[in-house]
Amino acid sequence: MIFETHAHYDDEKFDSDRDLVIQNLLNGRICRIINVGASIESTKASIALAEKYENVYAAAGVHPSEIGGLNEESFAWLKQQTQRKEVVAIGEIGLDYYWEKDASVQNMQRVWFARQLKLAKECRLPVIIHSRDAAEDTVNVMKENHAEEIPGVIHCYSYSAELAKEFVKMGYYIGIGGVVTFKNAKKLKETAVQIPLEKILLETDAPYMAPEPFRGQRNDSGKLVYVAEKIAELKGVSVATVEDVTKKNAKTLFGIP
Ligand code: NI
Repeated sequence: MIFETHAHYDDEKFDSDRDLVIQNLLNGRICRIINVGASIESTKASIALAEKYENVYAAAGVHPSEIGGLNEESFAWLKQQTQRKEVVAIGEIGLDYYWEKDASVQNMQRVWFARQLKLAKECRLPVIIHSRDAAEDTVNVMKENHAEEIPGVIHCYSYSAELAKEFVKMGYYIGIGGVVTFKNAKKLKETAVQIPLEKILLETDAPYMAPEPFRGQRNDSGKLVYVAEKIAELKGVSVATVEDVTKKNAKTLFGIP
């Protein structure tokens, strides 16, 4: 069985068949799903899905590209949601300088990243961190806020194996998804080889990032089998071992039995 640690089933790409997709996954090889909020709206939708399905959990948080939706009022609402039993993490939060080049907006991303890290510490929840083209500032904001005291995962990891080891030293897990199956994903394959399986989480980022041979199509948690197979091949272990160990990792991080 596979623990899916990062999906967005509230996405409009699932509007036509959402319930069927989730039902089929949970009746098949997927034992748990974390549906991750990326905005105030998608946090609401994630909580609704978690209320509806026993083995679906929610992460509450605002993605760096969505911080326009944050103010004192919405942040207070976000804080309230952390009290719900369905909410198992703060996320996804972080920095994205790939889509945002404006220095003043990047500065606001750092401000809201730091505030959401503090919120996680306050309410004792792990964090799901999104970081793209912003390695140095991500590490800086994390260090300034003593992120080594907050458990968490660097989701959809896209940096070097060397930096992954630094995150692991800070206590973080590394989220690996469909990209690891891409032919040109040298850095991520190297990362999967070099960090211990005990620090890896399986994730899709569905509906995005479908693995080979489905690259470009709508992704879903069922396709994590291909990710598990690739990691097993890279590490020279069985697929069952990859599934079991990463499931245990996710249960530990998110405090789910
Ligand atoms: Ni995501």
